[in-house]
Amino acid sequence: MRLDRLTTRFYCLLASLALLSAAHSTANEVSSEYGVVTSRSEFASKAGTQMLAQGGNAVDAIVAAGFALAVTYPSAGNLGGGGFMVVRMADGTTVTNDHREMAPLAAYRDMFLDDDGEYDPAKALRSHLASGVPGSAAGLLDVHERFGKLTREQVMSEAIRLASEGFQLPSDIARQIAGRKDLWLRTIGSRAKFLRDDGSSFEEGDLFVQPDLAQTLMRIREYGRDGFYKGKTAELVVAEMKRGNGLISLKDLEDYETVWRDPINGSYRGFEIISMPPPSSGGVLLVQMLNMLERFDLNSMGFANALTMHTMVEVERRAYADRAVHLGDMDFYPVPVSSLIDKKYAVSRIQDINLEKSTSSLEISAGELPTPEESEETTHLSAIDSDGNAVAYTTTLNSGYGSGIVVEGAGFLLNNEMDDFSSKPGVPNQFGLLGAEANAIEPRKRMLSSMTPTIVVSENRPVLVTGSPGGSTIITTVLQIVVNVIDHGMSISEAVTHPRFHHQWMPDAITVETGGFEEETADQLRSMGHEIRERRAIGDANTAGWSEDSIIGVSDPRNQGFASGLEAPPNN
Ligand code: DON
Repeated sequence: MRLDRLTTRFYCLLASLALLSAAHSTANEVSSEYGVVTSRSEFASKAGTQMLAQGGNAVDAIVAAGFALAVTYPSAGNLGGGGFMVVRMADGTTVTNDHREMAPLAAYRDMFLDDDGEYDPAKALRSHLASGVPGSAAGLLDVHERFGKLTREQVMSEAIRLASEGFQLPSDIARQIAGRKDLWLRTIGSRAKFLRDDGSSFEEGDLFVQPDLAQTLMRIREYGRDGFYKGKTAELVVAEMKRGNGLISLKDLEDYETVWRDPINGSYRGFEIISMPPPSSGGVLLVQMLNMLERFDLNSMGFANALTMHTMVEVERRAYADRAVHLGDMDFYPVPVSSLIDKKYAVSRIQDINLEKSTSSLEISAGELPTPEESEETTHLSAIDSDGNAVAYTTTLNSGYGSGIVVEGAGFLLNNEMDDFSSKPGVPNQFGLLGAEANAIEPRKRMLSSMTPTIVVSENRPVLVTGSPGGSTIITTVLQIVVNVIDHGMSISEAVTHPRFHHQWMPDAITVETGGFEEETADQLRSMGHEIRERRAIGDANTAGWSEDSIIGVSDPRNQGFASGLEAPPNN
């Protein structure tokens, strides 16, 4: 029996958790029996629950929120980027949609090296060459066509309204846009979108109208994928490429396809884990790390205890070493997925963990695995409807605001996802991640990702739907939320709110959230041989879950996201 007829919204005051710094002190939690959508933007979350109100399902809701996010959260919501969606329908159907960007046909291995053979971050991150062929429009449309109940007009209407009528800029977005004036001055399209007509910066509360983006969205509403990948929008993208010596061609756009992939399936202490396969490393690493952690009693070790953190770090170190060598686009490289997520491999991998002392990352290399036969900014949204359909969706332009280049006349930003390839072995990318052959640049290949949209199922219910931005820290953020719920018995809100830490093999250091952990714990970790570094916040995990008698949505208190719950039964 569900207790609440009406949605209740409350701000959980976690002041009693002395562990948390002020930045982590509140979570926006909503509970509803009719469905929830949680994302980084209030406009987008509400666009999602509007679909539920119109009788749509969680897929309609996520697609509407995804399009709206491209309008209201330009830092990572996008049409010019890519993403991964994990869908679990109430009938048990589980599938993932890979709409990751692809290297253009004209891309080549050394394209980000300068004349001296050195990696050139300006080229890889802020030039027209930085963009892969965008996948988001195709992804949202394909998933909607396969699983949605409402029309394309319905799921796009709020995004189009927000772009054409405008919305009042919230303080954080206004601040982000104003802080990047130099970036906007570089190209005509960016200046037109992100600066006022007189060249000054937008401020909080300004009405932000995006007429070119509205037109692009209307072309998609009218012609479906052809409204983006052919005709006027495609021509505008190619014209933008020509202006900046970029590589994306009309043929690249026309040939772009999303890929339906079987999810990575794992189990952890009786819970079913459903996550994203390559070209994301997220699902493989998550399941691999959970397999290793299953051999330890984290519950009795306790949350935020030095031994728990040490154990998790040692597991993370080993998994990220495997990532650097074995993970890449499976369509181009034989990724040993089944070996990596095999519980027997996990047992062999933890043999050299010393529970009293850190292992140096220099002593850890990727596990030897047989080659199989052929076989700061991203954003995460989660939704569950009253039937129990669930969607975890992570989407990105890579860096905040991608390459910073807006397609002139089309009003959307281009990604700089090409930097997620390994441009030069041994040289880390912007997230400090190393890579090799498996993730080298090749035409039409998809660059390796860490995005980890994940659904955890118990007794046929989606008890946790989660994911996060944060580059390399995405996978360990999701890992901690899963462990917090399953091992430490936390509520979804607590699991999302509690402080986070991260280790990625190289650099050989634990990053902890500032003010998140006791100094005594840090000292214990140092005495075990760990180096500790600090960061203000790790991740932004907008999470949902089926909890006993209601559906819970939580927006991560580290950012200004919003959890929206449907307050009354839908009008079917
Ligand atoms: O796909 C990836 O792993 C990266 N492009 C994600 C980038 C990201 O999360 C940046 N946000 N903080």
